[in-house]
Amino acid sequence: MILYYSATGNTKFIATELAKKLDDQCIDLLGRIKKNDYSELHSDNPFIVCAPVYICEMPRFMSDYLKNVELTGNKAVYFIANSAGYAGITGWLAKKLFKKKGMEFMGCSELIMPRNYYISHYPQLTEEEIKNRIFKSFDKIDDIANSIQNCEHLKSRHVFLFEKLITLPFNPIWSKHKLKTEDFFATDKCIGCGKCETVCPLNNITLKEDKPTWGTTCAHCMGCIGNCPTSAIEYGEITREKGKYNFEEYRHFLNEIR
Ligand SMILES: Cc1cc2nc3c(=O)[nH]c(=O)nc-3n(C[C@H](O)[C@H](O)[C@H](O)COP(=O)(O)O)c2cc1C
Repeated sequence: MILYYSATGNTKFIATELAKKLDDQCIDLLGRIKKNDYSELHSDNPFIVCAPVYICEMPRFMSDYLKNVELTGNKAVYFIANSAGYAGITGWLAKKLFKKKGMEFMGCSELIMPRNYYISHYPQLTEEEIKNRIFKSFDKIDDIANSIQNCEHLKSRHVFLFEKLITLPFNPIWSKHKLKTEDFFATDKCIGCGKCETVCPLNNITLKEDKPTWGTTCAHCMGCIGNCPTSAIEYGEITREKGKYNFEEYRHFLNEIR
C-alpha cells in the first residue's frame, strides 16, 4: 500500500507511478490528515510512504499523522522523499519514526523534483530544468520499483551529524518566524469554488462571502496557490513575479516523452 501527501502534484506523480509499476493500492492522506482520521490502514504488501520535503524534513503535519495512524499487516516500510535539491534529515527522521512504531525500515530513496516553493528566495527553475527533473525521475522511480519488487532495502543517503545539529533547531525557528499568512490574498479572478479550502491540509482556509480567508496555522505547502483553477491566489507580489507551480501543467510533457 502506497501512502502519500502532495500539495502540488510531484509526490502524487511518484506515488501513482509506483502504484502502477507495483500494481499496488495508492492512498492520498490529505482527507485523513484534514479529519484527524487515524483509523486502521491494513496492507499485506510492504507500506511505501511518499513525502515532499519541507525545510529538510517531511511536513510536520504528515509526520504527526504517521506517528498516530494505525498501520497493520505487513511490518516493512519503504520511504520515498522528494525535494527540490536537498532532503536534509528527512530519511533519518522517517527511520526513527517507523522504528518507534515497531516497523522494519527498508530505507529511504530521495528524488529531485521541480521546486514548488515559489515564495522562497530561491531562483525559479527554467521550463527546461523543470522538464529535465521530471524526465530524470522516471529512471529513479523504475529503480525504486525494482528494488521493492525484489524485497531489497533502498540505499539511504548517509545523514551527517552536522545536518542533524543544524536542522533540528532550525526547522522550528524557521516555522515560527517564516510561516506567515498575512500576505495571502485572492484576486478578482477568484470564483469562490472552495478548492483552496479543500486542499489545505491544516484546515486553515475558510470561505467568507465566497472568498478565501487564511487563519494563522499554515505550512506554506503551496496547495492553495498551486491548485487554484483560476490562478487567483497570490502571496504579496512574489507569486506575481515568479508564477505558480503545479505538476499537472506538465502532464502533456509526460505524454510526449512516453
Ligand atoms: C514549505 C516548503 C518547504 C520546502 N523545503 C524544501 C527543502 O528544505 N529542501 C528542498 O530541496 N526542497 C524543499 N521544498 C520543495 C519541495 O520539497 C518540492 O518541490 C516537492 O517536490 C513538492 O512536492 P509536492 O508537489 O508533492 O507538494 C519545500 C517546499 C515547501 C512548500
